[in-house]
Formats: sequence, structure tokens, C-alpha cells
Amino acid sequence: TLLTPELRAEIDRHVGKYPPEWKQSAVMPALTLVQEHNGGWLTQDLMDQVAAYLDMPEVAVYEVATFYAMYDLEPVGRHKICVCNSISCMLGGAEALLEHVEARHGVAPGETSKDGKFTLKEFECLGACRHAPVVMVDQEYHECVTRDGIDKIISKLD
Ligand code: FES
Repeated sequence: TLLTPELRAEIDRHVGKYPPEWKQSAVMPALTLVQEHNGGWLTQDLMDQVAAYLDMPEVAVYEVATFYAMYDLEPVGRHKICVCNSISCMLGGAEALLEHVEARHGVAPGETSKDGKFTLKEFECLGACRHAPVVMVDQEYHECVTRDGIDKIISKLD
């Protein structure tokens, strides 16, 4: 099995928050944990094992994994840079940021840098619209990000 005992124990902590007949409710944290343990992305096998573990149809897990932008179904870079593409951020300069990263670093949304340092993603509203444009790097938020700012963020990544 791909789900190690440690991983199962972590998933169980989330499963335990719901009545036994609702353990499928833990599907999102389960996928998040499994993805973290797998270098930032989900394989078909891993999704199938989560489905089996939570007694839910494989297709239902796949639907969740494809619906939410936080899950990746292909290998990713060591870091994920997510640029908010919702209205406030787009009006506030997110589009220019994406163009800048593509021109300067050769990485378009959905792509990974050649050195494997980062994957660039577009994300739905990150909930900090007043500080547009918002960029999330791994789990860390950066607000009012300028082109210089995103260059600095990228240069600091290992
Ligand atoms: Fe970007 Fe809400 S529109 S954080």
C-alpha cells in the first residue's frame, strides 16, 4: 500500500472529526496530506487508495482532486507559486505579474521552471482581495505583490 501507517494515522485524525458514516467528509484533508507526502502531487494510485480508505467511489475522489486548484495531478516543482486570478487581483495587477513571470523566468501558468524550483499556478480568490494582487507561495501569503516583489520571492526559493 502507498498509504503508510503514519499517513493513515494522520488521516484518521481527520476522519475522527466526523460520525463513522460520514468519514468521506475527510476527503480533502486526506488528499492534502497524501499530496504533501508525495512531493506535492497526486497519482491515480494514491487517489484510488484514498477512495478505498474512506469507502468512497474512486470517481468521487477524482472529482474533488480535479475540481480544487490546490491539488496537482502531475509532478510539480519544489515550490508552488499561486497567483490569484479572481477579479480584484486581476484588476490589481495579477495579470501583469503572470506576464512578468513568463517573460522573466520563462514559466507560464501551469508550468514548472526548468530547474524544478517552482510551479506557477493560477488560483481562485485567496480571500485577501483588499491587498491585491495576492500570491501564495506554498502556504504563505504575500499581498500587494509587485514585479520586483515576485522576483525577490522567486530568488529566495531553494
Ligand atoms: Fe484575489 Fe480575492 S480576488 S484574493
